[in-house]
Amino acid sequence: MILLAPSILSADFGRLAEQVQEVERAGADWIHVDVMDGHFVPNLTIGPVVTEAVKRATRLPVDVHLMIEHPDRYLADFVGAGADRITVHREACPHLHRTLSEIARLGVPAGVALNPATPLSSVGDVVGDLELLLVMTVNPGFGGQRFIRSMLPKIQEASRLLAGSGRPEAVLQVDGGVDPLTAPEVADAGAQVLVAGSAVYGHPDGATAGLRALRDALGARA
Ligand code: DX5
Ligand code: ZN
Repeated sequence: MILLAPSILSADFGRLAEQVQEVERAGADWIHVDVMDGHFVPNLTIGPVVTEAVKRATRLPVDVHLMIEHPDRYLADFVGAGADRITVHREACPHLHRTLSEIARLGVPAGVALNPATPLSSVGDVVGDLELLLVMTVNPGFGGQRFIRSMLPKIQEASRLLAGSGRPEAVLQVDGGVDPLTAPEVADAGAQVLVAGSAVYGHPDGATAGLRALRDALGARA
């Protein structure tokens, strides 16, 4: 079954707890928290303080996506804030094996994200240390960007990589431009967890309707 992880990046931060609780009630599986530092990506978003507020608001797993340079400096802070899993970017981690080991040592599942231009081969040697692989289908930095269709074969390849590497339990996540039109294609390519920000929180009828539209589009897959 496909899991849905609404990204709070597109939520109303003035009513953050309420917005998190709304998607929990509507059947979300994880809450996705997009952390940006103004260096690795142009945007600035949230840090451990807001992550802790999200954690307090929900019983769902808090899925932290670190789009920051030097993530090693902040891993303990995010785990302390209640992160249930942490994903770092391949491009921000020259010593990726060390970073993944540190996340595991802190007691949460470790994930690696790949920008659209970063090849899957760049994680080939650490697949055994991954609990999650995130294929980005936009260039990270902002919500509401257009899905990059040429990433579909990369999702298929990533699915084969995990299945064939003795890591069938590792999760394949896709993030960026996921909406009712693209979600079925992403799922059919092999993704297991879909992140969606604007399609959920930007839905004209609200987040509950946004999540329902995604589930309806996925049909029996979700
Ligand atoms: C992109 C973030 C995404 C983003 C998704 O930089 O990592 O999680 O919020 O937003 P949508 O679903 O609007 O593309
Ligand atoms: Zn994200």
